[in-house]
Amino acid sequence: LEGLSTQQFGQNHYFYYQELDSTNNRARELAAEGYPEGTVVAAEMQTAGRGRRGRDWYSPNQEGIYVSVILRPLLPLKEISRVSLLTAVAVAETLATDLNLHPLIKWPNDILINNRKIAGILSEVVTDMDSIEYIVVGIGLNINNFPPDFPHDFRTPATSVQAECQRPLPRVQILQNLLFNLENHYQKLLQGRFGDTLEKAKNLSMVIGREVKIDTLNGFLTGQAVDIDDHGFLLVRDQSGTIHTVMSGEISLLSS
Ligand code: ATP
Ligand code: BTN
Repeated sequence: LEGLSTQQFGQNHYFYYQELDSTNNRARELAAEGYPEGTVVAAEMQTAGRGRRGRDWYSPNQEGIYVSVILRPLLPLKEISRVSLLTAVAVAETLATDLNLHPLIKWPNDILINNRKIAGILSEVVTDMDSIEYIVVGIGLNINNFPPDFPHDFRTPATSVQAECQRPLPRVQILQNLLFNLENHYQKLLQGRFGDTLEKAKNLSMVIGREVKIDTLNGFLTGQAVDIDDHGFLLVRDQSGTIHTVMSGEISLLSS
């Protein structure tokens, strides 16, 4: 990654593979071996790329960015959602500022352009009692695919940077910008300036103000998404006016 302008992310430990089962799996192994914060794992393709809830992440050779970063924040476990949210902001900023696209964040961690999914984030945390031992943040970003190439059974239609920009773009440059933005927002979190990132997340949210149905671990919740709180949790107001705090879960948008 020549020309990478981060202070730490990807500077001292950058692992690059032609093929992996999953960059998150490899990063978890490296984290367990003691590799430090800022270690980056990237692969040209994944044979078992994972989404949330055990779903597959389609990861064809040289068509996307498949990258994972090891983080070791000294934060209580309840702040983990902030890390997912800041990652979503970093991905969205990379697409918006650097490529002039108009992505939105579908809370908690999908990135969509014109209702098509361009990127997903899978954060996995290993805890030590109630503190965080490490987090592996995995990002999958579609770059060179064209919509007809995608499998037809996706739950949400997909798109890619090339399909949106209508020109080929170097993946290395996008990866470097992404790591830079990610480090920037992560440092802000550690410095107690998560508020800046949260504001951006709210501005980029495609969920706030909409009627939503959320599949939580305790069943379905329907209501209006009203805000994202300081922990990165979604606040949903149900018909009776009660505000529910949703920590994570699968969300369907019911109105446009
Ligand atoms: P969705 O956002 O599709 O409703 P979800 O966010 O609940 O789904 P995740 O587990 O976050 O589900 O994402 C995995 C899903 O993303 C897969 O089931 C598939 O539909 C879709 N998917 C898999 N690979 C890609 C890809 N490369 N680009 C876009 N979407 C993908
Ligand atoms: C989702 O939308 O469900 C999240 C998808 C996350 C995919 C990335 S690709 C790099 C990293 N390695 C994985 O196996 N998954 C994440």
